Amino acid sequence: MSLSKAIDIASVRFSAPDLQAMRAFLHDFGLRVAEDAGDGVLRMRGLGPAPFIHETVQGDAGFVALSLRVSTLAEMQTLADADGTRVEPLSGPGGGHVVRMRDPDGYRVEAVCGDVQASPLPTPSGCPWNSAARQDRTGQTKRISTEPAHIVRLGHVVLGVSDITATWAWWQQRFGLLVSDEVRTPDGDVASLFIRCDRGTTAVDHHTLNFARFPGSPARFHHAAFEVSDLDDLMAGNRFLAERGHVHEWGVGRHILGSQVFDYWRDPWGHRLEHWTDGDLFDANAPTNVTDMKTMMGCQWGPAPPGNFAS
Ligand SMILES: [Fe+2]
Repeated sequence: MSLSKAIDIASVRFSAPDLQAMRAFLHDFGLRVAEDAGDGVLRMRGLGPAPFIHETVQGDAGFVALSLRVSTLAEMQTLADADGTRVEPLSGPGGGHVVRMRDPDGYRVEAVCGDVQASPLPTPSGCPWNSAARQDRTGQTKRISTEPAHIVRLGHVVLGVSDITATWAWWQQRFGLLVSDEVRTPDGDVASLFIRCDRGTTAVDHHTLNFARFPGSPARFHHAAFEVSDLDDLMAGNRFLAERGHVHEWGVGRHILGSQVFDYWRDPWGHRLEHWTDGDLFDANAPTNVTDMKTMMGCQWGPAPPGNFAS
């Protein structure tokens, strides 16, 4: 029995010395400036209803925190009581409440609840695809503009951790999560867990979190991933970012675990951010799949990962 049930990831927070440069990059990446709360924090949103999904505070560059959304204030109070902390007002557009915690590696983890959702912005509906077997577009051309991708929502965060067993116990106890894929080393040790939310019969992303041990590396943020509207949108966003001279890392390809089409970029301070589309969705009945490192790092098509990706 967990203290709460996370229903989705809510936002990620970074620090950076130049908020204007961060804003310019994030615009090119496909995020929009959120409502200004007047507290000096740069907040960006997607086209979906979350009031913001990416925050930057002024300071030395680095990953600061991630937040998960829970359903009720009662769950928030239970989380706060368990860690001897309290439910606090959440600053930023949408308001709401927050419980601030630290996981076994010291990552700042926040549970949020009760924020007022924003009006969704228009999302491109996508032009139908013709395949050899099925023609869904006749008498209609397809024209894709080269412009920033249309990010709809934050999808997942990957964290390097020092002790997967301790990390999983901490997060599962607080947020009632499920393991979609358990990745093992040849020796049988758990190297990585792909984790989804438990929303009963509602299908959710294959992974909202991933914890991984990167041999020789300290526990550190690996990447945050944002869902774009479709494959054409991802590819147009790739071209736009490339033409603007941003740092590309890996893609475009299709992962094996989670199946999503991926494209990885770096922000001006090296934080790894992913565009993705067309991922797997599972409800709570799907069993845990046990697999290996080769499968985790492989892709179904696209280039091989760069050598430093798993570090
Ligand atoms: Fe990812």
